[in-house]
Amino acid sequence: MSRSAHPAGPRHADVLPEGHYSAPPADLNTLDPKVWAQTVDRGDDGVVRVGGVDVKALAEEFGTPAYFLDETDFRARARAWRTAFGQDADVFYAGKAFLSRAVVRWLHEEGLNLDVCSGGELATALSAGMPADRIAFHGNNKSTEEIHRAVEAGVGRIVLDSLQEIVRVAHSAQELGKRQRVQIRVTVGVEAHTHEFIATAHEDQKFGIPLAGGQAAEAVRRALKLDGLELIGIHSHIGSQIFDTSGFEVAAHRVVGLLKDIRDEHGVELPEIDLGGGLGIAYTSADDPREPHEIAKALTEIVTRECEGARLRTPRISVEPGRAIVGPTAFTLYEVGTIKPLDGLRTYVSVDGGMSDNIRTALYDAEYSVALVSRTSDAEPMLARVVGKHCESGDIVVKDAFLPADLAPGDLIAVPATGAYCRSMASNYNHVLRPPVVAVKDGEARVIVRRETEDDLLRLDVG
Ligand code: LLP
Repeated sequence: MSRSAHPAGPRHADVLPEGHYSAPPADLNTLDPKVWAQTVDRGDDGVVRVGGVDVKALAEEFGTPAYFLDETDFRARARAWRTAFGQDADVFYAGKAFLSRAVVRWLHEEGLNLDVCSGGELATALSAGMPADRIAFHGNNKSTEEIHRAVEAGVGRIVLDSLQEIVRVAHSAQELGKRQRVQIRVTVGVEAHTHEFIATAHEDQKFGIPLAGGQAAEAVRRALKLDGLELIGIHSHIGSQIFDTSGFEVAAHRVVGLLKDIRDEHGVELPEIDLGGGLGIAYTSADDPREPHEIAKALTEIVTRECEGARLRTPRISVEPGRAIVGPTAFTLYEVGTIKPLDGLRTYVSVDGGMSDNIRTALYDAEYSVALVSRTSDAEPMLARVVGKHCESGDIVVKDAFLPADLAPGDLIAVPATGAYCRSMASNYNHVLRPPVVAVKDGEARVIVRRETEDDLLRLDVG
């Protein structure tokens, strides 16, 4: 990043990025089903609905900003992943994308397992009745206390992330008189994002134990020796928002290589392989994610082929999609506040939330779509930037979008595909209150995570 000062102007307010769509969509009132939750549509009165409830009624009852989550869509996506992988594989929903007790119950009912990566996520899962043996516990720096709680609760697996942790988990298990099932997370030297992946260069990161240099083999040696551990498999997670399976192909090849080395050195064939999460979703109409059944087929074929080549029994596969299940199921509803046209550049549309409810645009330069949802409009499209109410010029929710030129304060606009990593990464910056999550299904809406209040803020501030 450049640290040099430069005059304000074009470098901040740059026009559309190269290769970005430059023409507005044919009809701003149309909702692309690719980016909106399954039950979202526009009623005859022009007002957008989810689960049969219109957004004006939702705004009135629950206020804005708020996340509205389509429960029917969530369950359908969870089920699609479960069905695609079948009985010989396991799907662990990655709770970091969004976790609440209602979500845990839906996952349980739909037959999915759960990946948690902190004591807080573990507590949420257990308090909502997820059976401990269907929970996987992750994290690159689990505390001794977290490890103890996970072992005591009887989680189905702990994913070991460092050499130190192998000893810590074994110690906890012995103290509790248990044998803990574990996987070892390895860094395969592949990093995949969206359309491209890079092999070999990405061992320089905090997660996992590198395959290169024999560290992973050493971790396996140690884990196999310790009585408190039952080593059941190898884990690899290669990135986020991935649309094709070529990165998984390289990862599977390398993981299976390790399984073969383990068989040759120790005479054991580990029964499981976890390929992590990272499957992409459509944030804008330009994104083209693949269906769960296509991904399941491709990953199963890759692992089977690699194992046949290495003369190994094909292990049980598991995956950990988070974003691909919850991401598309929710939208954030905002009320339009101030509107500032900047001649020759764009119009800044301020909403009543911002980087506190969606940090992804500021953090990753993420792209989102947006639509006017409280009415239709036949006005000309205007190039807009949707910004929040925070004291920060990087407080951008949607960087480039077309909205109708007659947009006015009080209109409701919605940003789709905000189910993953928005509420879960929300903050109280500027003491702005975190929005509620409202589940909508079959004409009914209910709060599953309530809106924060000023009392909540003051309760933490002990004076
Ligand atoms: N499994 C492991 C071990 C992971 O580290 C992750 C994500 C997942 C599964 C789920 O990945 P998903 O299917 O949701 O992409 N905050 C970022 C994403 C960070 C993901 C970290 N690990 C974002 O907003 O894009």
